[in-house]
Amino acid sequence: MRNHFKIAIACIAMTTFTSCYYDKKDQVYPQVAIPTCDTTNITYSTTITSILVSKCYSCHDATTANLSGGGILLNSYTTLKPYITDGRFINSILQNGKASPMPKNMAKLDVCTINKIVVWINKGAINN
Ligand code: HEC
Repeated sequence: MRNHFKIAIACIAMTTFTSCYYDKKDQVYPQVAIPTCDTTNITYSTTITSILVSKCYSCHDATTANLSGGGILLNSYTTLKPYITDGRFINSILQNGKASPMPKNMAKLDVCTINKIVVWINKGAINN
């Protein structure tokens, strides 16, 4: 009987400890990472180029454009610029029906990536 009592006390103690642990504020309400989109300091040479390299060069680089990119070369500022001017670059990634949707046969670019491109274009699409 005494042993049963001890076990009962031990159980209560353990439960109390455990619940105290989980009562900690940051355990009950864990911090949720809020997605942020940093659109400051967007440059052609870093931001835009890295997007193009990872999402577009498989079809629009010098070695791929004629094979899988419809002959469209986007591997430099000079070759990209005409597609910015005529709107096809932005319309293709917005997939708004005004140009062929890009990247072709792949998932649409995420909102943050599109935002970065929009910000760069709105600031004049300069070769920075
Ligand atoms: C899998 C290959 C592939 C990928 C990846 C790809 N493209 Fe294309 N792109 C093409 C082809 C092929 C065309 C020619 C038109 C067509 O077939 O739709 C084209 C056409 C275009 C055009 C002209 C659209 C028009 O309506 O005339 C633009 C602008 C363009 N791509 C931009 C991009 C951008 C920006 C990316 C990356 C975000 C990208 N593409 C990724 C294959 C690709």
